[in-house]
Parts: sequence; structure tokens; C-alpha cells
Amino acid sequence: MGIIFTTVVTADEVRQILDLQAQNLPTSISAETMASQGFVTVRHDPAVLQRMNEVAPAVIAKVGDRVVGYALVMPREFAPDVPILGPMFEMLNGLFWKNQSLKDSPRWFVMGQICVAEGYRGMGIFDGLYLKMKEVYRPQYDFTVTEVAERNTRSMRAHERVGFQTLHIYPDATTGEVWRVIVLEF
Ligand SMILES: CC(C)(COP(=O)(O)OP(=O)(O)OC[C@H]1O[C@@H](n2cnc3c(N)ncnc32)[C@H](O)[C@@H]1OP(=O)(O)O)[C@@H](O)C(=O)NCCC(=O)NCCS
Repeated sequence: MGIIFTTVVTADEVRQILDLQAQNLPTSISAETMASQGFVTVRHDPAVLQRMNEVAPAVIAKVGDRVVGYALVMPREFAPDVPILGPMFEMLNGLFWKNQSLKDSPRWFVMGQICVAEGYRGMGIFDGLYLKMKEVYRPQYDFTVTEVAERNTRSMRAHERVGFQTLHIYPDATTGEVWRVIVLEF
């Protein structure tokens, strides 16, 4: 069955995103899987994720009715709804991309999380999600910003491959996790 790239329309798709997210949290996978396959860090509140998708639908890959990959679109007005990302948004406000202060520019959003289901990795779905994102969001936005843990080498590699550029690198003050802030121009 073919893979279709589209954006979230139904509440069931949001539920499937949450399932995929839950399966890829560090608490759900072994240290070996984390190291070789990557992992997600943020667990979204279902009601917040539903509202976020009503405002800015996530890009998803579907096989039949099944969501096999997603890339979340997080407009900045949602920062207060995801408290764990508060420090990141504060940090982003102090950064510049191409001489433009992120704080003063409305033409970007945070790619809130990307994940491809086990069994569907290494098939171009990652690239397809970002291609679709560019197509859908280019009229309103010039670029997207995200951050990837440096030890998530699989994700780092894939993001570099599709054209993300490094904007900033910093260690999380409490966990020590080293994050790389990266930008993809549309
Ligand atoms: C990260 C993820 C989205 C990437 O999607 P994918 O379909 O697996 O990506 P791809 O296979 O297209 O690309 C992975 C790249 O990493 C490379 N790679 C594979 N295993 C690797 C490893 N253990 N270490 C470093 N690089 C690795 C691949 O060779 C490929 O690079 P290449 O194109 O230069 O050969 C997916 O693996 C995933 O969902 N992982 C779990 C959740 C996650 O980590 N999300 C990202 C959070 S920032």
C-alpha cells in the first residue's frame, strides 16, 4: 500500500500521533534502541495537541488509515501550553537568523517533534514529511526551527541530510542534554 503525505484532519489522527509518541519516549524503549533508532523527549497533553492541530495541522504520513510518521507544527502562541519548552522559546527569542531577530519575526514556527514508526524507517518518509511541510507552510512562513539532542545521532544525520543548518548549541541546565538548534529554510 502506498504512503500518502498529508496534514492532520481528524481527532483519530491526533490520537495516533500520541500513540506513536508514547512508543518512542525514553521510558518505552531500551538504551540500545534509543542510541540506534532515536527517541522523542516531549510528551504532549492530548487536549493541547488537539488544539494545536486545529490551528496548525501537523504533517503526517499515512498508509491506509494508519499514521506512520508525523512532524508537528507548533506556532509560537502555544509556548505557554507546553511548559517544558518554555526555556527553549525564551532562548530562541535571543537568537538571530540571517541578521533577523527571531523575536521580531513572525515568519517562522517551531517543528515540535518528528517521528517515523518502527518498520517504516529508512524509506524516505522523513524526507517526505519535510517536503510536504514546505509545500503547505511556505506561503505563510520562511523557515522552521527545531532542536535535536546531539546524542540522537540518527535524527541529527537525517536533519542535516534534508538541509537543516545549525543555529545554536547549548546544554540543558538541569539534564545536561546537549541540544542543537537547527533551521530549515522553505
Ligand atoms: C529520527 C527519525 C525520525 C528518522 O527517520 P528515518 O526514516 O529513520 O530516517 P532516515 O533513515 O531517512 O535517515 C536516518 C539517517 O541516519 C543514518 N543512521 C541510521 N542509524 C544511525 C545511527 N545509529 N547513528 C547515526 N546515523 C544513523 C542513516 O544512514 C540515515 O543517514 P543517511 O541518509 O546519510 O544514510 C526516526 O528514526 C525516528 O522516528 N526515530 C525515533 C524518534 C526520533 O528520534 N525522533 C526525532 C526526535 S528529534
